[in-house]
Amino acid sequence: MLNMSYGQFSFFLLVCFCQLSFSSSIPHLCHKDQSSALLKFKKTLTVDPSLVLCNFYYYTSSWNMSIDFCSWDGVIWDEMTGYVIELDLSCNSLVGKIDSNISLFQLSHLQSLDLSMNNFSYSHISPKFGRFSSLIHLNLRNSYFSGQIPSEIFHLYKLQSLLLSTSYDTVPKLATHDFRFLLQNLTLLRVLDLRGVSISSAITLNFSSHLTTLVLRKSELYGVIPESIFHLPKLEILDLSSNYKLSGYFPKTKWNSSASLIDLNLQGVNFCGNLPESLGYLTSLRTLFLVLCNIWGPIPESLSNLTRIEYLFLADNFLNGTIPSWIFSLPSLIDLELSNNHFSGQLEDIKSDSRLFIDLSNNQLQGNLPKSIQNLVNITNLDLSFNNFSRNVDVSFFSDFKHLSSLDLSYNSISLTNENNVNFSLPESLVYLQLAACEVKELEFLRSAKKLEDLDLSNNKLQGIFPDWASCNWMFSLRTLNLSHNMLTSMELIYLARNNLKGEIPQCLGNISGLEVLDMHHNSLTGTLPNTFRFRSSLRSLNLNGNKLEGKIPQSLANCKELQVVDLGDNHLIDIFPMWLGTLPKLQILSLRSNELHGSIRTPTIENIFPNLRMLDLSSNSFIENLPTGLFQHLKAMRTICQAMNAPSDGGDGYQDSVNIVTKGLEREVVRILFLYATIDFLNNKFEGHIPSIMGDLIALRMLNLSHNEFNHLVGVIPAQFSSLAVLYFSYNHLEGCIPQGNQFHTFDNNSYVGNDGLSGFPLSKVCGSDDNDTETNDTTSGLDDEEISE
Ligand SMILES: *[C@@H]1O[C@H](CO)[C@@H](O)[C@H](O)[C@H]1NC(C)=O
Ligand SMILES: *[C@@H]1O[C@H](CO)[C@@H](O)[C@H](O)[C@H]1NC(C)=O
Ligand SMILES: *[C@@H]1O[C@H](CO)[C@@H](O)[C@H](O)[C@H]1NC(C)=O
Ligand SMILES: *[C@@H]1O[C@H](CO)[C@@H](O)[C@H](O)[C@H]1NC(C)=O
Ligand SMILES: *[C@@H]1O[C@H](CO)[C@@H](O)[C@H](O)[C@H]1NC(C)=O
Ligand SMILES: *[C@@H]1O[C@H](CO)[C@@H](O)[C@H](O)[C@H]1NC(C)=O
Ligand SMILES: *[C@@H]1O[C@H](CO)[C@@H](O)[C@H](O)[C@H]1NC(C)=O
Ligand SMILES: *[C@@H]1O[C@H](CO)[C@@H](O)[C@H](O)[C@H]1NC(C)=O
Ligand SMILES: *[C@@H]1O[C@H](CO)[C@@H](O)[C@H](O)[C@H]1NC(C)=O
Ligand SMILES: *[C@@H]1O[C@H](CO)[C@@H](O)[C@H](O)[C@H]1NC(C)=O
Ligand SMILES: *[C@@H]1O[C@H](CO)[C@@H](O)[C@H](O)[C@H]1NC(C)=O
Ligand SMILES: *[C@@H]1O[C@H](CO)[C@@H](O)[C@H](O)[C@H]1NC(C)=O
Repeated sequence: MLNMSYGQFSFFLLVCFCQLSFSSSIPHLCHKDQSSALLKFKKTLTVDPSLVLCNFYYYTSSWNMSIDFCSWDGVIWDEMTGYVIELDLSCNSLVGKIDSNISLFQLSHLQSLDLSMNNFSYSHISPKFGRFSSLIHLNLRNSYFSGQIPSEIFHLYKLQSLLLSTSYDTVPKLATHDFRFLLQNLTLLRVLDLRGVSISSAITLNFSSHLTTLVLRKSELYGVIPESIFHLPKLEILDLSSNYKLSGYFPKTKWNSSASLIDLNLQGVNFCGNLPESLGYLTSLRTLFLVLCNIWGPIPESLSNLTRIEYLFLADNFLNGTIPSWIFSLPSLIDLELSNNHFSGQLEDIKSDSRLFIDLSNNQLQGNLPKSIQNLVNITNLDLSFNNFSRNVDVSFFSDFKHLSSLDLSYNSISLTNENNVNFSLPESLVYLQLAACEVKELEFLRSAKKLEDLDLSNNKLQGIFPDWASCNWMFSLRTLNLSHNMLTSMELIYLARNNLKGEIPQCLGNISGLEVLDMHHNSLTGTLPNTFRFRSSLRSLNLNGNKLEGKIPQSLANCKELQVVDLGDNHLIDIFPMWLGTLPKLQILSLRSNELHGSIRTPTIENIFPNLRMLDLSSNSFIENLPTGLFQHLKAMRTICQAMNAPSDGGDGYQDSVNIVTKGLEREVVRILFLYATIDFLNNKFEGHIPSIMGDLIALRMLNLSHNEFNHLVGVIPAQFSSLAVLYFSYNHLEGCIPQGNQFHTFDNNSYVGNDGLSGFPLSKVCGSDDNDTETNDTTSGLDDEEISE
């Protein structure tokens, strides 16, 4: 210490000084009981990171006794009194119950409490919330509170904002008349959000003139909306939507809220009348939702004054007359929804360079598709379906819409042509295209639309085969495809094998109707197999060998009763043996090799499974325990040699089934294998025990590979019935004893047996009988094992 340098010494002093000043100031800042109440409260809850309610999460990781609690996240205290006055725990992934006895209620000086966006597991809102008499802001939004809202809340006279809304099924309730008390007592409220809260009350009440936000969406309100609501002078957001027993009248005069109102949502409220001119006074309006409001008549000219309007939703009403051309040029407009009305006439002189969404579907618009639509240069979504637009429209009409992502022209009297030039095509940006009943004759104009996700070409005049380029272009994008009611002769084939396809396997593949062959082997597909294979699917061949697929073998494949070939080999599937595939009556080839399949193969409970199976490849997986004797009792096709047996049929499309097999260490793709004989490949698993002699009944077996397993009994296997067995591998097991002689055994070479130290006899060099213990070798025909005896 005495030797320390000047620098060290001054540092030492500094540290002492700081500690002194710090500790002397603590008692003034923070009350000990407040910190322990907070910490206790936190301990009654847990953090569940898997909770997905918010885009961002904040964790109270700093809540910890070794840190001064005044600096804990979300906690604000009063410097003078040392009491916690604000607590913000929104989006903290908190899970647990908010019971009446928890220490939260000891923080009696709170002025602001935000517990929104957590999961309090249907806790009832405790009457003790009424004790926070200083509370100005209370936010319990979307936090899984339920039950009746206690009237004690209405004693929080200072409340300026009260948010109890819920989007979930938890529906907190207000008792009868309580809504009246709420409005009478809480006269300072500026923000009242009870969306989803069951109020079940008439709305004929007085609302505080301080209100800026009034959200009573889906609250089971009824009665007639008092006109005074539209005159609340500071109102910015009014949402009374989805109260289907509510009706109302718009003020005919200037609204007192005209200057302030920004969002007006009255969807589902019954207005029974015209759209009033007075809406034109709402010059701050950004969203106007008057969907399903039972309004009729024309769109008033005064709406042209709404220069800030972005979302103008007037769908599902009885509006009529023509659609005014100025409406497209409203300077802030983003989305115009006028569908399901009675608009008629033509669209003339329209113009806009905004990125518009426009839905005019289901009206009575008529005439030629007007050229002036082309003035909507930056339009992204256009729906004109179910109108009476007529005549020929050339596809070049749309080629200049560089941002078009969705187009629906279905069910007009339009005849889509492509006469000008094949170079004209639809914009590359198109994702959603519906051209039902548009007299489409060919698909060439869609070549450049490579991002299509939803395509409806039903009720058209397409003929011939579905072009390959279309399958290729849309393979990875398409989610829905409707080609019904055309004259196509085929679409039944998707053959994209050995391409360099990357990315998630499209989930739509399972429900492409009419698909017979799905062959995408040797690509780099990832993700899980679609589980959407439908009943009565015509899928005959499924080959996804050599990709990077994960997950389970989809059970819905059991719906594809036409399946003959299933090759899912060389992927990363994790599952047990799919015995249920045995119910496919026509299945001939099943290859699951080189995956992560595991477990023991249990005795099937269904009769006559895999009746037509001729090739079973389970090699390089992790199956354990005994060979599936129960399975070998079925496999009817392997038990007979019938010259009439056919290879999997090709449906006349010329597609050649192929399957990847490994023999003698070489992988080969065998196209149209000779199906007279059967093969079983169990190479490289962890099967153990003996080789059941029932396998001898599989007389059509041509190849049997049991190498690299953990068998230890050879006795009794390979009975004489194995007349056609040409390839047999037992190598690398723990077999002992003498190799049986006779029959075709002399045709197998060393490779069939190597790696079994205890084995001797021809063709191995170790002579049988040289060892005393080998003398018990028995004739191959006499060795019945236990199972066969018990049969
Ligand atoms: C409390 O905070 C200190 C300092 O940040 C840290 O070392 C300690 O592990 C924390 N304790 C808990 C229980 O989080
Ligand atoms: C609160 O009471 C409930 C029973 O009503 C009990 O299960 C819970 O442990 C209590 N919590 C505290 C913090 O005392
Ligand atoms: C919230 O908790 C309830 C019950 O504890 C549970 O049923 C619900 O699924 C949870 N919600 C979320 C989004 O985790
Ligand atoms: C506040 O509401 C309660 C009902 O919870 C009622 O009894 C009381 O009279 C109300 N107070 C005022 C000032 O309106
Ligand atoms: C609304 O308030 C006025 C005075 O502000 C009062 O006379 C009237 O009774 C109130 N109406 C209702 C339904 O509470
Ligand atoms: C709203 O305007 C009407 C006239 O339209 C007026 O009589 C009324 O007092 C105003 N209300 C408020 C709360 O300003
Ligand atoms: C709308 O604006 C025009 C001027 O463009 C004005 O003459 C008219 O009175 C306004 N209408 C309403 C309802 O505000
Ligand atoms: C609009 O509908 C009303 C009846 O609802 C009708 O009287 C009027 O003539 C219609 N206008 C047009 C242009 O069709
Ligand atoms: C609309 O398109 C024009 C070119 O036609 C372009 O200059 C303008 O920036 C686009 N506007 C928007 C909002 O994309
Ligand atoms: C559709 O328009 C044609 C004229 O282009 C007209 O003859 C026909 O009546 C219209 N159909 C409907 C349902 O309005
Ligand atoms: C032969 O078998 C006997 C048991 O039957 C065993 O003790 C002996 O070690 C065996 N000899 C050889 C060489 O394996
Ligand atoms: C070999 O066969 C004889 C009968 O032929 C039988 O008694 C003996 O148990 C058999 N040995 C083995 C090891 O199966």
